[in-house]
Amino acid sequence: MASEAVTKYFLIFVLVAIQLWKFKRKQSQRSKAIASPGVPPVDSDFKWEETEPRPYRPFDGKRNHRVAMGTKDMTETPEDWLLLENTYLKNIEFRKEATTSYPKNTTYVHDNIETRGAVVEFYDKVVTFLCQRYPQYFTLDEEKGTVLNTITNEYLLSPTTSKEEDLILCLAANIEEDFILLMKDDPTDHEEEYKLRASITGFPAGFDPSEGHNQPISFIHKPVPKYESRLKFSMAKFFNKLEPTDLSVRFNWSVQMHKEKFALTNNHGYVGDKLVEMKYEDIDFENETFLRVERQIFTRLPKSRAVMMTVRTYLTPLPKVKKEGLAEELIQGIDGLPEDLAFYKKRPSWGEPVKRYLRE
Ligand code: HEM
Repeated sequence: MASEAVTKYFLIFVLVAIQLWKFKRKQSQRSKAIASPGVPPVDSDFKWEETEPRPYRPFDGKRNHRVAMGTKDMTETPEDWLLLENTYLKNIEFRKEATTSYPKNTTYVHDNIETRGAVVEFYDKVVTFLCQRYPQYFTLDEEKGTVLNTITNEYLLSPTTSKEEDLILCLAANIEEDFILLMKDDPTDHEEEYKLRASITGFPAGFDPSEGHNQPISFIHKPVPKYESRLKFSMAKFFNKLEPTDLSVRFNWSVQMHKEKFALTNNHGYVGDKLVEMKYEDIDFENETFLRVERQIFTRLPKSRAVMMTVRTYLTPLPKVKKEGLAEELIQGIDGLPEDLAFYKKRPSWGEPVKRYLRE
């Protein structure tokens, strides 16, 4: 009897050891397979809390403010993909609040095997990038087999043992960027549109992200003026041609008259809306007026072939833009918007008072 029990425990021990060995091997193969080529670490004296937000001012020096693709190649600077700036803790804390209070609006994983695979691949890509680019802040704890974020002092999840819904929330708690994964039902069908299949949107710019979940790109862009005539065809072509070796960036900009980064409504004018001009005297320009810029980056994930988009949102107080000496350029940008796009950005309600403030 005793020898039978010993054999049984020995067998259990061997089985557990094999499973552990397989788990470790899978993890190490995974991290080898997804190294980010050409991404050097930041300087050893880099400090996120001393890094000023990049002053992206997409209206500056631009003659044409019409709706356009405006994508630019950034394959020469892949290290610029995910940024750590002095807004880091505030933004991830803020996003945690948004995903906790509005889980249905902000968080989505389409329930099929292809999307789940793409989420794990994206998770690996982000975590590898963070470890490579910011080694002082994201370090692999060999014993635990997971990565430690030394800024928040929290461990990231292991992709081999976590649900995809938890993986995207973990990313949301570690990077400032929102993100979207787009897939087709049939990846070989050039006619089919990409659909939004997984996302975290902690900083919606005046729309309800849940209305776009599992929807094609055209449906999502329906309210955008001239989408059909100027963007639809070029966007389909852009996404069909996008390869994992590509990395592209584009910017959207607008002015908003409140300090919310999380806006489910309010930033846009839609056909049929009546926009009333705000009174200059009623506006708190110092505290309630902002330039809102989105920095969007695109590539394709090699294994799942999902299209990836990350979105970094900047809110810059208008007094700061003025101090930078860019008041005249912003006025030109505001005036240069074609009527339909200006209405979409609600210019009839804020345009004149904002220009008056910028001129003073
Ligand atoms: C090259 C790719 C893309 C281009 C050229 C593009 C272009 C635009 C433009 C011009 C706007 C109007 C925003 C403004 O100027 O203030 C817009 C809005 C928007 N875009 Fe895109 N976009 C692209 C990709 C995407 C993707 C992949 C998604 C998500 C699946 C997306 C989601 C949105 C949403 C939710 C809005 C706001 C729509 C609303 O008002 O309800 N965009 N896009």
